[in-house]
Amino acid sequence: MAAPANLGISVPFPERNPFTKEGVLLGKKLFFDPILSGNNQISCATCHQPEKAFSDGLALTTVGASGQPLRRHVPALQNLAWSQGWFWDGGAKDLESLAAGPLTHADEMAQDLRELTRELQNHSSYAPQFKAAFGTDSITSSSIMRALAQFQRTLISGNSLYDHYARQEPNAMLTSAELRGLALVRQHCAPCHATDFFTDQSYRNNGLDAVFPEDHEQMAWGKGRITKHPEDVGKYKVPTLRNVAVTAPYMHDGRFQTLAQVLDHYTHGMVSSATLDLIFKRPDGSLGLPLSAAEKTDIISFLHTLTDRDFLRNWAYSPGK
Ligand code: HEC
Ligand code: HEC
Repeated sequence: MAAPANLGISVPFPERNPFTKEGVLLGKKLFFDPILSGNNQISCATCHQPEKAFSDGLALTTVGASGQPLRRHVPALQNLAWSQGWFWDGGAKDLESLAAGPLTHADEMAQDLRELTRELQNHSSYAPQFKAAFGTDSITSSSIMRALAQFQRTLISGNSLYDHYARQEPNAMLTSAELRGLALVRQHCAPCHATDFFTDQSYRNNGLDAVFPEDHEQMAWGKGRITKHPEDVGKYKVPTLRNVAVTAPYMHDGRFQTLAQVLDHYTHGMVSSATLDLIFKRPDGSLGLPLSAAEKTDIISFLHTLTDRDFLRNWAYSPGK
């Protein structure tokens, strides 16, 4: 599968689960089908909505099977094929096995995987689709997860105004405010929100919290929850900035409603902690990035050029087609 030129030559698919048209179509059908949940009412798309770049517009959703708020904000799903680790803390190492998390978690889809394979096996249209995708009559939880992963690897955003500009396509122009914003992003944000993926895939502490409580399975520890290293506590995956204008609220707990609030955090909202990134420590001891009000406005103008309407409205990523 070809990639947008500024992202790569082709979309990386692992050898053990190569791209197939049948697998992607099956994965898409599964992604939008509430049959995947224990109560047959919740699909992946209940929380990952195409028109919001597969995020949900909520800080901490309560739409899962138990009605309990989840402990983390739903991230957008885009350009996942290039990610090196998934979840805010990098706890998922592989896009295939990741799906078992939401499928079985009591607060998400609360499904019994054996029950699910039985349901799909007895379903008139799924059996032939699994056969076409994987060449066997038996549906397994592994084939379900492989199909979901194939579909998710095709969720590619690379057609925003910025992308047209970056590929130097004819008539792709940014305004002077957007260009100033781009230069500021490259200077102040790109140490982390790097490359045309707008993430360097690293885990950093951007000064949101001063303390990281241990309760709820160390959920607040971020990457430290996975590695148990004190130097990782409070570090979270650097999210992409693509489509960020349509994925509010922001951060791992959805604490900021607007991009203006995010930029205010970066200039004067930070709090200190042992793992705070050194980039944010100014020589005079204060914290944050040095940006004027006008510069913040320019950055926000630029961030809007990362909205990719082709991605948000792509029929290939919508249900029922
Ligand atoms: C009830 C809401 C909900 C449902 C339903 C749900 N998810 Fe999620 N999803 C989340 C939350 C919350 C996170 C962030 C979890 C974390 O980082 O700890 C997430 C994270 C992810 C990620 C990681 C993205 C990244 O860049 O790190 C993927 C991939 C994903 N979900 C796929 C799925 C798939 C596939 C399904 C259906 C089988 C699904 N989700 C169903 C809430 C949901
Ligand atoms: C030192 C690394 C670093 C720098 C520099 C940095 N960020 Fe971030 N950014 C992060 C991390 C890490 C997160 C996620 C933090 C979390 O949720 O706990 C984040 C989150 C965000 C988010 C929220 C995205 C979402 O989907 O929730 C936005 C927007 C953002 N940053 C914009 C910027 C802008 C604009 C700049 C430059 C003015 C910038 N960042 C500079 C590391 C950085």
